[in-house]
Amino acid sequence: MCGIVGYTGKATALTPVLEGLRRLEYRGYDSAGIALAVTKGEPLWIEKRAGKLGNLEATLTRVPDAHSGIGHTRWATHGGPTDRNAHPHLDNEGKLALIHNGIIENYVELREELEKRGHIFSSDTDTESVVHLLSDSRKKHNGDLAAAMREVCAELRGSFTLLAIHSDEPGRIVGARRNSPLVVGVGDGENFLASDVSAFIAYTKNALELGQDEVVDITAEKIVITNLAGDVLPQKAYEISWDASAAERGGFEHFMLKEIYEQPKAVADTLIGRTAGLDSEITAGINLEGITKVVIIACGTAFHAGLVGKYAIENWANISVDVELASEYRYREPSVDGTTLVIPISQSGETMDTLMAMRYARSKGARIFAVCNTNGSTIPRESDAVLYTYAGPEIAVASTKAFLTQLIAMYLIALHLATVRGTLTQKEHDEIVTHLAELPGKIEQVLETVEPLRELTRKFKSASSMLFLGRHVGFPAALEGALKLKELAYMHAEGFAAGELKHGPIALIDQGTPVVAVMPAAGSLLAEKMASNVQEVKARGAVIIAIGDADLASADHMIRIPATHPFLEPVLSVVPLQVIAYEMAVARGNDVDQPRNLAKSVTVE
Ligand code: F6R
Repeated sequence: MCGIVGYTGKATALTPVLEGLRRLEYRGYDSAGIALAVTKGEPLWIEKRAGKLGNLEATLTRVPDAHSGIGHTRWATHGGPTDRNAHPHLDNEGKLALIHNGIIENYVELREELEKRGHIFSSDTDTESVVHLLSDSRKKHNGDLAAAMREVCAELRGSFTLLAIHSDEPGRIVGARRNSPLVVGVGDGENFLASDVSAFIAYTKNALELGQDEVVDITAEKIVITNLAGDVLPQKAYEISWDASAAERGGFEHFMLKEIYEQPKAVADTLIGRTAGLDSEITAGINLEGITKVVIIACGTAFHAGLVGKYAIENWANISVDVELASEYRYREPSVDGTTLVIPISQSGETMDTLMAMRYARSKGARIFAVCNTNGSTIPRESDAVLYTYAGPEIAVASTKAFLTQLIAMYLIALHLATVRGTLTQKEHDEIVTHLAELPGKIEQVLETVEPLRELTRKFKSASSMLFLGRHVGFPAALEGALKLKELAYMHAEGFAAGELKHGPIALIDQGTPVVAVMPAAGSLLAEKMASNVQEVKARGAVIIAIGDADLASADHMIRIPATHPFLEPVLSVVPLQVIAYEMAVARGNDVDQPRNLAKSVTVE
């Protein structure tokens, strides 16, 4: 949802700002723009273009030298994806520029008021109201941009990250955040502000967290963080563990393919040191005694990880689990109290729906144990305990390695709950742990077999629809396979619990419909039931692509994966599903890493 970057320091600002935008483009690619403070007191230099960052870059032939600037890559909410709606937005003197991520809910009333005061608007965005408001407030505060930002933020409703720069003080950038991400990068004689650390990890690994309703004021040498009342706050420093190379394509054609191949490492990293039990550093903040129910809240792919978690937690820890779509949860006003354990799952840690659902549960007294991939983001900051996944930066919009590590996190939490509640025998526990430890090697084995799958996928390039079937933990895997295909191949796809087919969806099967069957572990009761469901669709003309640990007689195409513990199967079966979606997108000429209409971190409701 919009990427934001600001730089002030010794370098030519265009370089770090543009590099930051390249790394943040996954957050939105409807337009991009840059404002640079070139000469004190003169209008800012600004360039902005609709479309991908490449469109903007093509115009950057004669850029003046400047040592501070801000840049924005947009996922449109208010106002179409046009040049005039692209950020930065300027005040009427052209000396103050503002970029924004989020939604200003009271922008209409602000705009009416500002127009009455003589401000001339030149876009349809909610953001532009803020730049005019900031301009007036800055004058009132004798040119103090930080004081103006504090006053303006207090007037705004909604969610926002804001960065502003004024040409009267070219080396100063002021930012603020509420319910939207903003981190500070601390350099040597240079400082950065960005939506996430990937924008500046090539320059510094030292970062500062920013809390809710905080204003940050940076120059090359100084960083001051205040609350909206103007009190100076202590700085919460942390070191970024991600490597700069993790945010590069590293020879792969697309980030998504690279991230698919990074999965063995991501899973291994997330497991390291945790299978013997979650250490007290993770669990100290949360008391798991006496809980009567678990509620998992998440969106999209993370929701599918939650569904797998339900199977594991209910079975291993013998406690009832609800998995809730975060966007539906809080508006239902569900019953939740201090005996409920709520597990929000989020790669970004900033998804607004998940954050709001979690805050609702928290306000009712629930205990919050988050699963997150992004250190210092809002969801972990507002949780009692966090189990971080170690997927590293996920740049492709479609989630792959983050999903696999979310599955691992769910298994680890299920084991931990089972230990607290004494519901697994040592033998059962050890067996699961042995299987978990084998997963990275087994994912490697799956990846070794994907070439023929890519070739097979291309055969279905012109299909109008693809269906995915599964049972037990294979059902969420089927849902995930269908979601990946929809978002990447722009193709109709549905995931079904195979037992449900006969209750309606089987009518979708036609001659030649490709059906992907995620088979349960060979020899299990469910494998037999699933084989019958496959027969039912095959008899009606479906072409069967089966994924499983043993050959299926009725399959037209068989994708073999190694055997594992039945509950851990999605960690292996989802990998071919990701490859199918990837290859289908390539075959159909789609933009794999930045599929249409999407953005990675969804910070609007
Ligand atoms: C799909 C995908 C999304 C996210 C969802 C939640 O490939 O990536 O469905 O899973 O938007 O995002 P996070 O995990 O950041 O809360």
